[in-house]
Amino acid sequence: MTLLLRINSSSRQTGSHSTAIADHFEDCFRNKHPDCRVLSRHVADGSIPIISQKTIEGFYTPDAAMTADLREATSLSDSLIEELQQADTLLITAPIYNFSVPAALKAWIDQVVRMGHTFAYEDGAFKGLARTRRAVVVCAYGAEGYLDGEAFSAANFVQPYLQFLLSFLGITDIRFISVQGTTADADTVAVNVEAAKKECQLAA
Ligand SMILES: Cc1cc2nc3c(=O)[nH]c(=O)nc-3n(C[C@H](O)[C@H](O)[C@H](O)COP(=O)(O)O)c2cc1C
Repeated sequence: MTLLLRINSSSRQTGSHSTAIADHFEDCFRNKHPDCRVLSRHVADGSIPIISQKTIEGFYTPDAAMTADLREATSLSDSLIEELQQADTLLITAPIYNFSVPAALKAWIDQVVRMGHTFAYEDGAFKGLARTRRAVVVCAYGAEGYLDGEAFSAANFVQPYLQFLLSFLGITDIRFISVQGTTADADTVAVNVEAAKKECQLAA
């Protein structure tokens, strides 16, 4: 069965454009893969804490030396990584917050990017260990001009960061669906959201 893992990172429980576009992507995906399972996480709900000293210690402790404390401190990471490793497609929503990804998404990233689990360092080089091959990232920008070749692209630390990070993990098929100008007037927003939704069909 195909698994779609959905990581939602908008803090908005209502009115989120990235969530609405990802909802549409999910519908398209379900149509294309009728037997699929969808696992959805809302990382802005506070369920993923900022990575702690104990968790970091656990990440770098050999299995034979792990204590009960360290196992407890790395158990959330274990389960988030397990979810990622089972997913065939990863769907991330990433609104731009102060030119970067939301802190809640970064908290999830800090739990799943883990030496020996999702990446390795071998013979002087990094190697991605993610089994997921596909990622679709829905980005929402309040302003406009952030995309490649546009006036404000140097201020976009969302797309280049996530492109690099997902490749680093070994994910080879990465697609971005962007909606810009979400703080513009209602007509502009409607046109921009519709254009992003059209891309979902192809990407699903
Ligand atoms: C804390 C915060 C920081 C933001 N920073 C930016 C920013 O740096 N650039 C920008 O264009 N929009 C910024 N915005 C606007 C959001 O990116 C925009 O409203 C987007 O649609 C939010 O995603 P959502 O609709 O999925 O909730 C910010 C919004 C918030 C709440």
